[in-house]
Amino acid sequence: MQSKTIICVIGTRPEAIKMAPVILALQNEPWANVRILATAQHRHMLDQVNEFFGIDPDIDLNIMRPNQALTTLTARLLLELDDVLQAEKPDAVLVQGDTTTVMTVALACFYHRIPIGHIEAGLRTWDMQNPFPEEANRVIAGKLARWHFAPTEGSRQNLLKEGVPDAEIIVTGNTVIDALLMTAAKDPELAVPLDPAKRLVLVTSHRRENFGEPFRNICRALRTLAKKNPTVQFLYPVHPNPNVKDVAHEFLAGLPNFVLCEPLEYAPFIAAMKRAHIILTDSGGVQEEAPALGKPVLVLRDETERPEAVEQGVVKLVGSNYERSLDETQRLLDDESLYSAMALGISPYGDGYSASRIVKTLREYFT
Ligand code: UD1
Ligand code: UDP
Repeated sequence: MQSKTIICVIGTRPEAIKMAPVILALQNEPWANVRILATAQHRHMLDQVNEFFGIDPDIDLNIMRPNQALTTLTARLLLELDDVLQAEKPDAVLVQGDTTTVMTVALACFYHRIPIGHIEAGLRTWDMQNPFPEEANRVIAGKLARWHFAPTEGSRQNLLKEGVPDAEIIVTGNTVIDALLMTAAKDPELAVPLDPAKRLVLVTSHRRENFGEPFRNICRALRTLAKKNPTVQFLYPVHPNPNVKDVAHEFLAGLPNFVLCEPLEYAPFIAAMKRAHIILTDSGGVQEEAPALGKPVLVLRDETERPEAVEQGVVKLVGSNYERSLDETQRLLDDESLYSAMALGISPYGDGYSASRIVKTLREYFT
């Protein structure tokens, strides 16, 4: 049997985490010549994840620049991809999620007439400005993809609404749960000194649409919460984007019960989620992982493309409004019955077998 070249693309931290189970599964397929392309839209955060999963990119475009703008990132990437696709001549390319890497690779593959498999397809808020630019990125990738690996029935319905043929949509669950279960089974350690007697509020935030005043409001609310609740400790691994890092440090550094740290490696971050009492986040991946670990999540955004956990009552949208994020967090800290109703331990986004469903589809197509 002639082997088929499949390029798996990773650009940022969440892509590396969610693509890892697919890469590991594909590498066991005798028909597949797996090539790993790192655009390295993220540098350090991507390398951390690859090292953890034992993934070694075959091609590394090393594209990241400090405080990169969307247009220059896209333009530079598109040019680099031309050479790669011409040299590699892949039979298919897999992308994951909704980053600039995903949108740009989908476009480059379209120009080269190479079929694309879009993992985590069909997430929609139906609002191009929220999240920005991710909604546009995934709509474009969705227009160009050959295989749409939708995590949920809801995401399948979104794609059908956009006219994607049913036969091109495969509901697989989200590979983030594969990665989570693989990692949680190793019982990772947090390695950040915390007081075991105190409840922990874990925070992450990095969304572009929150930059400026909304993010300052989030930080103000966090500062007030920390001051009002001296017996609660806060841990915030800060995203390295300067638009986030500088403001977070301006508002939150120096509070006695608030730990600001560098991004945690993936396994220690899972340990932090397991240790947390409540999670405040605007991250997509964390909204998927935390419910599976039984942790209530308050989402620091006005909209989410992941409505399933909200509908099941384990995730709540609180926006970037000062009063609302403050009040909702305080209520969850004070009201035990409210807390128990949100700490159910359900996993609407996957069962740990998403990667094998994706690989099965490709195997059946190519062999
Ligand atoms: C990107 C994605 C976003 C995703 C997020 C995951 C786009 C437009 N945005 O946002 O969808 O949710 O990744 O984290 O695709 N930086 C470092 N080291 C790193 C990574 C980033 O210093 O390892 C800094 C650099 O200054 C870089 C900046 O962060 O220029 C922004 O990185 P970029 O990938 O453009 O945007 P994110 O905000 O990380
Ligand atoms: N994560 C991590 N270290 C951290 C914060 C998050 O490893 O300090 C992981 C988290 O478990 C999840 C992923 O990063 O799997 C989410 O990435 P991010 O929030 O950067 O992007 P998004 O999911 O919003 O696109």
